[in-house]
Amino acid sequence: MNRNDANDPANQITAEARRVRELEAELTLLREKAYNFETLIMASPIGVYRTTPDGKVLMANRALAEMMGYDTVEELMAKNVAEQGYAVDSYRTLFKDTIERVGRVNGFESAWRRKDGSIMFIREYARVVRDDIGRPIYYEGTIENVTDRTKTEMLLKESLKQIGRTFNELVETLSEAMNIRDPYTADHEKRVAALSHAIAIELGHSEGFANILRTAAMLHDIGKIYVPAELLSRPGALRKEEMELIKVHADAGWDILKNVSFDQPIAEMIRQHHEKLDGSGYPRGLKGNDIMLEARILAVADIVEAFSSHRPYRPAFGIEQALDEIDRMGREGKLDRQAVAACQRLFRDKGFVLP
Ligand SMILES: [Fe+2]
Repeated sequence: MNRNDANDPANQITAEARRVRELEAELTLLREKAYNFETLIMASPIGVYRTTPDGKVLMANRALAEMMGYDTVEELMAKNVAEQGYAVDSYRTLFKDTIERVGRVNGFESAWRRKDGSIMFIREYARVVRDDIGRPIYYEGTIENVTDRTKTEMLLKESLKQIGRTFNELVETLSEAMNIRDPYTADHEKRVAALSHAIAIELGHSEGFANILRTAAMLHDIGKIYVPAELLSRPGALRKEEMELIKVHADAGWDILKNVSFDQPIAEMIRQHHEKLDGSGYPRGLKGNDIMLEARILAVADIVEAFSSHRPYRPAFGIEQALDEIDRMGREGKLDRQAVAACQRLFRDKGFVLP
């Protein structure tokens, strides 16, 4: 019998034994790989987990247990993350909806509740694993604690809000300072600011646009600081040269504010608030689209407020007369007709009243 005969039982046993040895070697290699992989996961500083769709923890690493304030992985695994992990239920709902619809989440941010009840902000990358008919079997992914970064961002946002508040207070203080010199127009700027803001919103502009306009309106007559106080509060009509002196306030306002770094050209809006679309305004006699939209709205609000309020040289005309006046000026091509119409709608249909 040939030594190499495959049918020889002895040879068959040898081949079988070799195959067994090969399989054992493969198994050892796989075990090593699995061991290395598990070691890597367990030692990772990032939280790693696998949970069922209803929140039962199938696997978790040390980093995740520590992050959540548990003493051991086993203690964490005894918890249900759907019920105990998320600080707010809506985070879990959003997470579940997203991962099951898209198949994964990338950088999903939410707040978790730690063992001691404290809140932890996390960022999560995860995927869903499904069975043959597409039903989710489990979710697996990584969790990163981003609490410090999130808190810094929140502090930054709060600081920005504070800066915004300080800025508004400063604008109001500047405006109030003007009232001391010109008590007859006390609150004029505040009222023009409220009306300008309302017209901008009525025209469909954003809250941001309307707020910038409000700031410009709060300061629109700041240039009157250059006009002698007795001219501002004197009863009776002004002479032509006195009128020219008052007109200086538009350029003066621009000059005072031109170096302040506002986000928007507020100084320019103020400079243009007495311009008229037909070129008959001042200080530069600008026409049509050369006049900023903000300045056109400001002009309408300014005229309505001035007309409906008492002045040292005349009594108040009342709001209806003020609305007729801007209507006439709109038809004459002096004022922006859309801004005029929006202003009229506010008073006549929407119950707007000057503060
Ligand atoms: Fe003015």
